[in-house]
Formats: sequence, C-alpha cells, structure tokens
Amino acid sequence: MFLESIALRRFRNYGELDLSTDAPVNVFIGENAQGKTNLLEAIAVLALTKSHRTHRSLDMIQWGSDEAAVSGVVRRRSNRVALSLRLTSRGKQAWVGGVERRRISDYVGHLNVVLFTPEDLQLIKGGPSVRRRFLDMEIGQVSPVYLHDLQQYLRILAQRNHLLRQSSGRRDPALERSLEVWDEQLVFYAGRIVLRRHRFVQTLERYARQIHEQISGGREELSLAYESVPEPWTPETLEDALRRHLAARRATDLLRGSTTVGPHRDEVQILINGRPAGTFGSQGQQRTAALALKLAEIELIREEVGEYPVLLLDDVLSELDEARQIHLVSAMGSKVQTFVTSTSLGVLETIASDLRVFRISQGRVTFISGR
Ligand SMILES: Nc1ncnc2c1ncn2[C@@H]1O[C@H](COP(=O)(O)OP(=O)(O)OP(=O)(O)O)[C@@H](O)[C@H]1O
Ligand SMILES: [Mg+2]
Repeated sequence: MFLESIALRRFRNYGELDLSTDAPVNVFIGENAQGKTNLLEAIAVLALTKSHRTHRSLDMIQWGSDEAAVSGVVRRRSNRVALSLRLTSRGKQAWVGGVERRRISDYVGHLNVVLFTPEDLQLIKGGPSVRRRFLDMEIGQVSPVYLHDLQQYLRILAQRNHLLRQSSGRRDPALERSLEVWDEQLVFYAGRIVLRRHRFVQTLERYARQIHEQISGGREELSLAYESVPEPWTPETLEDALRRHLAARRATDLLRGSTTVGPHRDEVQILINGRPAGTFGSQGQQRTAALALKLAEIELIREEVGEYPVLLLDDVLSELDEARQIHLVSAMGSKVQTFVTSTSLGVLETIASDLRVFRISQGRVTFISGR
C-alpha cells in the first residue's frame, strides 16, 4: 500500500503541512529538533490512532492550540481511501472516506505501518522481557486467540503467585493441593502460548534471516531460537514437561513466593553467526539484527493482510555502514513504500535520483530533489 499524501494541522511543531508523498522512497533530511520524528509519528498515528511516544493525545497537539488533525490518502490494491483523525484534549475522532468510525477497530487496518526507531535496538540489547513483549505484541496483532490465552495465563499465574506468598515458605498439604489445581490450569494455557510463540519465531526467523543476509551483504547469518522447557514440543509433551518442571520447582517457588518456570520466563535467543547478538554483536551488527527483525514484520503483515505495509525508518541509517545503508534503502524501496529520516543525506546521495528528498526545518518541509 501507498501513502499518497499527508496533511497535518497543529500537530506538534507543524502548524500546517500538506505534503504529496507519492514516491516509493521519501527521505526527510533535517537537523535535530526540526520535526523529523514528529512527521513519522504523525504517519504512525494516522495508521494506529496511537503514538509510540506518548499515551496522551494532548502531547501531540501544538502548544497553545485546542486540537490537532492528521489526514492522508492511502492507495491500496483494490481501493483508495481517505483517512482523517482529530485529536483534542478530550480524545479523538476518526473518519474513513469521510464517514466517522466510532469504534477504533473499524478505523485501524486501513493503513498498516511498521516503524523502526533507535529504541528498537533494545530488542537485541535489552533483557528477555523486551523480546517477550515483542512476541506478545506481534502475535497479539494477528491472533485474538493468543491474546485471550495470554490473559488467562497471566490471571492464573497471579493467583498461583498469591498462594505461594501466603505459604511463607511452609509446606502445607492443603496448600499444595490447591497449587496442583492451579498448575493444571496453568500448564494448559502455558502449552498453548509456547506453541504459538515457537511457531511465530520460526516464521520470523525464516524472513529475518533472508533480510539480514541482504543487508549484511551475505556476510552474516542471523538465527532465532525460542527457549522454554526442553523439547520436543507437541501439545501433550509440552503440558507434561511444564507439569514436571513446575513440580520440580515447587520448593524454590514456595521459598521465593513466585513462579520460576513458564512462558513468562522464556527467552528468544538472537544469534549472529551462532553467537548471542546481545553479548557479542558490534553496535552495527546489533542494529542490523534489530532491523532485520522489524523488517521481517513487514513480511508477516503481508502474509496476514495481503499487502505490504508502509515502512517508517526514523534515524536508523547513521549507525549502519555505507554498504548496509544502500542495501537497505534499495532493497526496501523496490517493494515497500519507505519513509526515511536522517540528519544528512550522506551516502544516499549516490542513489538520490531514485528517492524523493525533502528538507525539514522548524516544522516546514521543502522539496529538494528526486522523483
Ligand atoms: N506539542 C508540541 N507543540 C509544539 N512543538 C512541539 C510539540 N511537541 C514537540 N514539539 C517540538 O518538536 C521538536 C522535536 O521534533 P522532533 O522530535 O521531530 O525532532 P527531530 O527532527 O526528530 O530531531 P532529532 O534529530 O533530534 O531526532 C521539539 O524540539 C519540540 O520543541
Ligand atoms: Mg528524531
């Protein structure tokens, strides 16, 4: 899909912006604090009604104003649709083709975006919880059943932990009988979660590995491994293994007052050439790996919705070497509409004729060159 144009009214540092973006790659060059991230944020908000930077609509409304508006025209394979959002301090309103949509679920999905920012490096560098959250978010987006399983699991887990804390480390037969009841429910949902995550990680790996190879110029191999209780993982063996692990950990769990095994403690290993990327990867390698994971998301979205989303790359080129930057922009631009921000054109100068280049300065955007 293609974002043909975007218009902003009193959004952050943009007073009034009307921009035609009907090119495969739109590049925005600007110094710090000029509005580059604000613009990509606006596109993401147009797609999702939510910002990755703030939970409050108010933060996005220009200081001194009462409301902000973001609108745009999206071209898809089968149709063209105008999207429009109004943000006020009291909330937001959304229109598709001029018709108000009161339910968010009737609005979201007309424009799909994948946003990559420098903070996404945490996928590689951060602790296991960052990667678990990534899995939960991504799978949740395409599978309501998964979200339900996860909610049930977390609810039962909280109840089990509550019981563990009540014991204050004592072993009391009545309490252990109740634990067994909770454990039975817990392993049911845990098994489903592990299986779904495992399947997702396998698909993600298939795409991410290919993309990573492209960006690194074939020099590196990315692999992913979901880590949980020992394999094999079929519905039955998984529940059995989880049951055994819970039993084996019971004394520890009672002492600690928390559950020390299960999907809430699982990990996704991210390896470059067989070594953990978080520990051994260089800054550039880590960035490439994080990028590959995010770009793999693009393929997963295409599998689900049948069209590529729009890709937003905020300030992520500077830490890639020149070869990786060019690989990335040309590989993406040929299939996905891409919006890139950077403080300078740098090596992209050499392929600038394929790009539409703009300059951003104090909330104003001017066309510089390109198609
Ligand atoms: N609600 C708002 N109203 C007006 N201006 C705002 C608002 N929110 C943020 N800004 C301004 O937007 C500027 C930041 O813009 P943005 O984050 O897009 O910068 P950037 O071009 O991405 O810079 P960098 O290169 O440092 O990432 C801030 O300096 C701030 O003054
Ligand atoms: Mg920025």
